[in-house]
Amino acid sequence: MPQARITATGSYVPAKKLTNLDLEKMVDTSDEWITARTGIKERRIAARNQACSDLAAKAGASALKQRGMKSSELDLIIVATVTPDTFVPSAACMVQEKLGAAKAAAFDINAACSGFIYALSVANAFVRSGQYGKVLVIGSEVLSKITNWQDRSTCVLFGDGAGAVLVEPAPAGEGRIVSVDIHADGSKGDLLMIPAGGSRTPVSEETVKKGLHYLQMSGNETFKVAVKTLENLVLNTLRSNGLQSSQISLLIPHQANLRIIKATAERLGIPMERVAVNIDRFGNTSAASIPIALDEAVREGRLKRGEYVLLEAFGGGLTWASALLEW
Ligand code: UT7
Repeated sequence: MPQARITATGSYVPAKKLTNLDLEKMVDTSDEWITARTGIKERRIAARNQACSDLAAKAGASALKQRGMKSSELDLIIVATVTPDTFVPSAACMVQEKLGAAKAAAFDINAACSGFIYALSVANAFVRSGQYGKVLVIGSEVLSKITNWQDRSTCVLFGDGAGAVLVEPAPAGEGRIVSVDIHADGSKGDLLMIPAGGSRTPVSEETVKKGLHYLQMSGNETFKVAVKTLENLVLNTLRSNGLQSSQISLLIPHQANLRIIKATAERLGIPMERVAVNIDRFGNTSAASIPIALDEAVREGRLKRGEYVLLEAFGGGLTWASALLEW
């Protein structure tokens, strides 16, 4: 079976910054608390007229430009998101239209913060099966529009942004997706959810009054499960690939909390110099956080051919996932 690789990256974040000091004026919080508990200093907020597919299309266009590929060549577009413009049509179909990728199939994936790696696993399988040769995978979120700006336990955490990668067949010796692991535990779904707005509890005056259309999270419980799950996940990924952590040149974790990122790196014995961190600038952008960090690493020249890169994420569902790349 042919192997697949990431051939280009791109990203886009909205211009508007919301700092911890701004948040101090909105809810009962402090820069000190947010920095100490999360590592976040500021996050980006989409403009009123910007939705998921707007950010996604910009990130996708940036990956296509890096590769020098025309959008008309794309076979498939996958968007990982929990904040699509609308339930129907999918954000991916809107991106297809915006990019003019007329021949591409398009669909969304919802695996919350693990969504990008889930989408990468699907792209990897399509390319390895030979069905598609040029797949655009995008993580894009406008979490600011599903955030309850009166709830200090969540509103300080999230930000908006998008990241994209192109997945294509890998000629020998030019990098590859070595392995992708995806997992879920639906029994703990209530730890992180949007209670209303779906077919269980459709939107009503009552649900809006109660704020049930906003994201809710049992932060502390989620934190504990995340740390434990991610430790096992990354150790298993290394073990099953016969690698030592010293062979990982860059760890790119989902950016949910600097304390979670540090705990995972410490468990692996990877020094923070080899960990991609941008949570201070962007907060938690769910499915977008890993591809944004990957794109930054590529543009900063942090990745060299043949080096191993480990991606890992944990989020609502619950879901968790890892991917090992040979760059
Ligand atoms: O991305 C997908 C998965 N998400 C995650 O993995 C996130 C996991 N969770 C977390 O990152 C952390 O649990 C949080 C950052 C959300 C919260 O940190 P924590 O250390 O778990 O704090 P906590 O929820 O236990 O709250 C500690 C205290 C509470 O006050 P009392 O009860 O001790 O008096 C909260 O009311 O901090 C209070 N608090 C705040 N204080 C100031 C909660 N939010 C705030 C706030 N500003 N924004």
